Amino acid sequence: MTLLKTYNKDFSSKNKPPVVSVIGISKKFPGSIALDSVDFTILEGEIHALLGENGAGKSTLVKILYGIYVPDRGEIYIRGRKARINSPKEAIRQGIVMVSQVPQLIDKLTVAENLILGLEKYGFITRVGKVRYFIREKSREVGIEVDPDTEVWKLSYTQKQLVELLRALLLNAKVLLLDEAITFLPLIEKKKFYKFIRDFASKGGSVLLITHKIYEALEVADRITVLRLGRVVGTVPRSKVSPDDVRKMMFAERSSQVTYERLPISTPRESAALEISDLWVMGDHGDHAVRGVSLTLRAGEVMGIAGIAGNGQKELIQAIVGLRRVEKGRIRLYSEDITNRSVSKVRIRGVGYIPDQPAKYGLSLENSIEENLAMLPSLTNRLINWGSIRDLARKLIKEFNIMTPSPKTPVKFLSGGNIMKVLVSRELLVARRLLVAYNPTRALDEVTAIMVRKFIKEKASTEGIGVLVASEDLDEILQISDRIAVMNSGRVVGVFSSSEVVRDEIEKLMVM
Ligand SMILES: Nc1ncnc2c1ncn2[C@@H]1O[C@H](COP(=O)(O)OP(=O)(O)OP(=O)(O)O)[C@@H](O)[C@H]1O
Ligand SMILES: [Mg+2]
Repeated sequence: MTLLKTYNKDFSSKNKPPVVSVIGISKKFPGSIALDSVDFTILEGEIHALLGENGAGKSTLVKILYGIYVPDRGEIYIRGRKARINSPKEAIRQGIVMVSQVPQLIDKLTVAENLILGLEKYGFITRVGKVRYFIREKSREVGIEVDPDTEVWKLSYTQKQLVELLRALLLNAKVLLLDEAITFLPLIEKKKFYKFIRDFASKGGSVLLITHKIYEALEVADRITVLRLGRVVGTVPRSKVSPDDVRKMMFAERSSQVTYERLPISTPRESAALEISDLWVMGDHGDHAVRGVSLTLRAGEVMGIAGIAGNGQKELIQAIVGLRRVEKGRIRLYSEDITNRSVSKVRIRGVGYIPDQPAKYGLSLENSIEENLAMLPSLTNRLINWGSIRDLARKLIKEFNIMTPSPKTPVKFLSGGNIMKVLVSRELLVARRLLVAYNPTRALDEVTAIMVRKFIKEKASTEGIGVLVASEDLDEILQISDRIAVMNSGRVVGVFSSSEVVRDEIEKLMVM
C-alpha cells in the first residue's frame, strides 16, 4: 500500500506522473542482496541525488534503470506506463542515458567520430556537420573547450566526461543517470558540470546524481534519496534537511564517527624517508608538469600536498613510484637513489602506492582479493604461501570492513568503494617504508574515508613510515597532514607546519 501512496503523491504534486517510478525492486547476487523492495521516483525537471554508504546498492539501481541488470522482482514505470528495460538500447529508446565514472570512448577516433559511432549504435542517424557544430557550441557554453576533430586520447579526463554528456544529449536523453560521473573531476570543473545539469533540469530534463559528498548533494539536488543495505531509508527535499540529518540517514549510529578534526600529530624521526631535489617531470601534453620541486619528508611524518588538480601533483606522485620518467633532479628513498627505477624495483623497497583509479593502476579486477595480494612480490617473498595469503585476505576484509561474499570472489563483483578498500588495505601492507597516495578516499563514503585516514596516520606514527598524500580535498589534507605543501603550476609555492596552517592562505596559494 505504501508503495502506491508514494507513487500517487508524486503524481498529484506535479499533476504529472513521475518520469521514472520504481516500485518494489529487488536484486540479489550470489552472497548479497543488493536491493530489497526499493520504491523510488524521479520527477520531471528535478535533480535527484542518490546517496548511501559503499555497497548500499546505488550502482545496482542505476544499472537496473539502464537495462544492464534485470531485477528479480518489482516494476518500473516511465511516465506512468509500465516499462520493460532489458538493455541499454531500450533504456535509451525510453530517454534514459547513463554516464559512468570511466569514459567509454575510443581513443584513436576523434570526438566527432566517437559521437557519430555512439549515435549509430543506437539507431540515430545524423550529419557529421551537425555533430561538429553541436560539440563546438555546447563546449563553449559549458566553458570547457573541446575540438570535435581532436583524437580522444589527447583529451583530459574532464573533456572526455563532457563528451560523454554531449553524447547523452545527442541521444535525446530525458533522464541522465550519473553514477559518480562528476566525482573525479577537478573542483573548478565540477562546478561547470553542475551548472550544465542544472540547465538540463531547468529545461525539463531529470538527473539522478550519485555522489559521496553530502554538501554537494545539498547544493545541487532538489530531492535526496538515501539507500542503506539495499533499502530506501527515505526520500527528502533538500530544503528540509541539514548535512547531519542526511549523514544520520546514511550511516545511522555510525554517523557519529564522522569528524573533520585534525588527527593527532605524529612525531617525525630523524631520518629522511624521501628526499626530492629539483625535480622536473613531463606531463601528458609535452610540457613540464613538475617544475623544480624540492621536498624532504621525514620518516613518521605525513605530508599533504594541497592543490587544484592538474598542477603537477599526479605527475610528482607517479614519478616517485616509477610510473613516469624524471627529466631532471633526484629522488632518494632513505638515502638510496631511486630516480627512474622501475615500478617493481621501487615497490619491492617497501613503497606503497594508492592511486585514485584502482582499476587503472592498482588491481586486477578479474582476480580475487587473495590473488590480488599474492601477485605482489613484496608481500609474498616470491614464494606464494596460500595459507598465509588467505589469512591476510581475511584480516583485511575484517579490518577494513570490505563487503564481499568471500576472499575468493573476483574483485569486479564488489562495489566501487569496496574495490578501493581492497587497494588501500593492500597498499598499506606494502608500505613498509613509504606510502604515496593520490586522492586516496575519493570513491569512499565519509565514514570509510575517515577510517582510511586514521589507518594511514596510525601507520606513520606507529611504524614510522613516511607518507606523502596529494589530494584536491582540502578538508582531507587539513585532517591528515603534519605538514602541508601547496602545489601550483608544477611548483611548490608554500610549505606549512600543521600548527601554523591557515586555510585561507592555502586556498589563496592554490589559485593564485
Ligand atoms: N555483478 C555483481 N555480482 C555480484 N555482486 C554484485 C554485483 N554488482 C553488485 N554486487 C553487490 O551488490 C552490493 C551493492 O553494490 P553496488 O555496486 O550497487 O553499491 P554502491 O552503492 O554503488 O557502492 P559504492 O559507493 O561503493 O559504489 C554489493 O554488496 C556488491 O558486492
Ligand atoms: Mg557504486
